[in-house]
Amino acid sequence: MAKKIAVSTHKGGAGKTVTTLALASGLAHKGERVLLVDVDPQGHCSLGLGLQLTTPTLKEFFERHPTLPLHDVVQRTYLESLDLVPSDLGLAWVAEGLSGRPKREELLARSMRSVDTDYDWILLDTPPNLGVLTQNAVAAADFVLIPTAPDARAVNAVEDLLNLLHVMKGDSYGHWGILMTKLDGRKTRTNTAIRESLASWKTKVFQTVIPLSEPLNQAQMAGKDIFTFDPASSGAVAYRQFIEELLHAL
Ligand SMILES: Nc1ncnc2c1ncn2[C@@H]1O[C@H](COP(=O)(O)OP(=O)(O)OP(=O)(O)O)[C@@H](O)[C@H]1O
Ligand SMILES: [Mg+2]
Repeated sequence: MAKKIAVSTHKGGAGKTVTTLALASGLAHKGERVLLVDVDPQGHCSLGLGLQLTTPTLKEFFERHPTLPLHDVVQRTYLESLDLVPSDLGLAWVAEGLSGRPKREELLARSMRSVDTDYDWILLDTPPNLGVLTQNAVAAADFVLIPTAPDARAVNAVEDLLNLLHVMKGDSYGHWGILMTKLDGRKTRTNTAIRESLASWKTKVFQTVIPLSEPLNQAQMAGKDIFTFDPASSGAVAYRQFIEELLHAL
């Protein structure tokens, strides 16, 4: 069975997509079979991998549920062992229409069976809100990774997501962790402040820190994963280290 990780925080621009792309491609480069599910209508994962959007996407999956299995929405990428379930803006409208469905937050989780044995890892990128799409990703996940950039409201976003996790998965749910992202080494005061603000979750914060690294931005514009685009960049080095830490932690 595939290990499933949702990358989530409702704080926009925290590095969810960059982290999901790096994890997915980094694991694929190690020879692991990976499925990346873009649960964000912004569709940034397809863009980041330089893929032309073709249907069906996750929009059609939700629209036609349960007649279209998740398996039939999977597309190949240029990396041998990385596949993608793409997303497009229309998914936002379809998600609105799910409100009348019973157990609407479990639609994705219940469909995982059709892909579970094909992959070692299923990674889910989520939108910057705690709505039904994020809930579907969280319900499907074994582990929730929370990227946190140095921002005054980052801690509130962690608290809000933890509240959702406790409602959905129970008060004692402990399969989550915080990854500090976009750290600017020159801003030592801010970095100290963000570490202090996360102190109450100290044991949940990964040791690896992702620095601000412009190639992570450029790689997406070039439609390539960071390990193909600039494997020696500080961003690539940090995400490679993070993958090793995550593999030990899980
Ligand atoms: N470590 C980093 N160094 C430099 N730029 C980064 C880094 N991480 C992310 N970025 C850039 O910051 C912006 C936001 O990152 P990203 O898209 O991953 O965030 P997000 O949480 O997915 O955003 P959204 O909430 O809109 O989905 C992007 O332009 C991305 O390229
Ligand atoms: Mg994103």
